Amino acid sequence: MNARYDQIMQVNIAHFGAEAPYYSNTKLWNTERAILKNIKPFSKILDAGCGAGRVTIPAAKMGFEITGIDICQNSINAAKLLATKQKVKAKFVIGDITKLPFEDESFDYTLCPRYVINAIPLFHKRREAILELLRVTKSGGEVYMLFFNKFTTKKFGYLILKNIISDTLLFIDKIFKNRLDWEYGDYFYEANKIKGAPIGFGHLTSVFEIKALLKGLNYKIISEEELCGNREWISLISKFFKYGVWVKITKT
Ligand SMILES: C[S@@+](CC[C@H](N)C(=O)[O-])C[C@H]1O[C@@H](n2cnc3c(N)ncnc32)[C@H](O)[C@@H]1O
Repeated sequence: MNARYDQIMQVNIAHFGAEAPYYSNTKLWNTERAILKNIKPFSKILDAGCGAGRVTIPAAKMGFEITGIDICQNSINAAKLLATKQKVKAKFVIGDITKLPFEDESFDYTLCPRYVINAIPLFHKRREAILELLRVTKSGGEVYMLFFNKFTTKKFGYLILKNIISDTLLFIDKIFKNRLDWEYGDYFYEANKIKGAPIGFGHLTSVFEIKALLKGLNYKIISEEELCGNREWISLISKFFKYGVWVKITKT
């Protein structure tokens, strides 16, 4: 039990539950399609933090045996409905990715796309989630995760400035508002996908934090260009300054 963690999970459930219709109607990204294309046919996959099945359902259509898990009942209901409508076979489970209800080595691959990890407060809980994703993945299998990049050059440096100001204000709040359990990079945001949806929580990760989270693991930071197989010359730069940072962890 951790009060901060439990409180944020309630925020996630309310926020993502209300935004489920948006995620049901959003398509697979090119990077995600590229990852799925590289996965051996008929593999057993876990989609961790699957939401309304945005990745799970297209993956099932590609012939993978896929299970989606999410903490939000509304999202799982939306995913099941979409799977039924599209006559797709996929399994959906309600659960927390920091404590997965699966046996060790149950899946060939595990996906954790679209910043699910950034919806988890507290460094040790994010690390716990990553270790859980690895635990349920078979030896030699791979975990693909997407992280927010706190120091992205998107919007020409505006976001870097905004994030530095936000962390400075948090430094003051930590002292004067007793927010000792907040971490730099934590923020609450107004829902912008579905009108009237409750606020969401995010934790912005820097590449330094990503490296600390993955310490001791066999991981690689991969650029969008590497994933999609084009413009490799730019990938060194893009790897560190894109809004999203993809990571592949190989289970040894
Ligand atoms: C940005 S959405 C992405 C949903 C989906 N992966 C997609 O790409 O459309 C983040 C998802 O993570 C889920 N989530 C947040 N914390 C979680 C946790 N501890 N365990 C399982 N799911 C969680 C939320 O409910 C939400 O559906």
